[in-house]
Amino acid sequence: MTQDEMKQAVAQAAIDYVVPKLKSDDIIGIGTGSTANCFIDALAQHKDKFQSAVASSEASADRLRSHGIEVVDLNQTGGLEFYVDGADEFDPHLNLIKGGGAALTREKIVAGASKEFVCIVDQSKQVDLLGAFPLPVEVIPMARSFVARELVKLGGEPEYRQGVVTDNGNIILDVHNMSILDPKAAEDQINNIAGVVTVGLFALRGADLLIMSTPEGVEVIKAD
Ligand code: A5P
Repeated sequence: MTQDEMKQAVAQAAIDYVVPKLKSDDIIGIGTGSTANCFIDALAQHKDKFQSAVASSEASADRLRSHGIEVVDLNQTGGLEFYVDGADEFDPHLNLIKGGGAALTREKIVAGASKEFVCIVDQSKQVDLLGAFPLPVEVIPMARSFVARELVKLGGEPEYRQGVVTDNGNIILDVHNMSILDPKAAEDQINNIAGVVTVGLFALRGADLLIMSTPEGVEVIKAD
């Protein structure tokens, strides 16, 4: 099975999990990235089963609209039933690193506004300890150098992601070789640096359920 086939398989498994639970007035949150794209494409044939969607990026909003799925502003909703999104890494407690696609802030907002966060990944994202994937941090542009120095003090090696401007008009620092022994504490600590908009650690609000695709089939892991 190729990685693409694994992404399609896990997207279909998420459809099988989410769609039977949907009510016609439900609004669902949709993530960003290649696995989320597979989910969006598979969701298209079920668009009569729910009302609309909130997207975590302009790219996902465009893709949803291209399938005729209505996209609404989060402020027009009273909250979302599900959030379905991929991840760059996950650990056994379903703490995540996200933001490889630079959409981490909106992803964290939409995840926070959702009753259930269903994370969809292939097995290449599974780790014992987070941090092999460079940790994305969205930063207000004028704070770039200051935040980078603060991240060095925390033991990381920040690298400016050249040429990337987020949907919110900010920049991304990718932090290499960061030892993330306590993901919740690290999320708090990095979020508290002035100028940081969001760190791509999803530990304070991790996934509720994770569906992982392997060449042998799909595995479901619930948060402990
Ligand atoms: C987007 O900013 C990310 O958080 C994605 O969810 C993450 O990078 C996973 O993307 P893929 O599904 O493309 O691996």
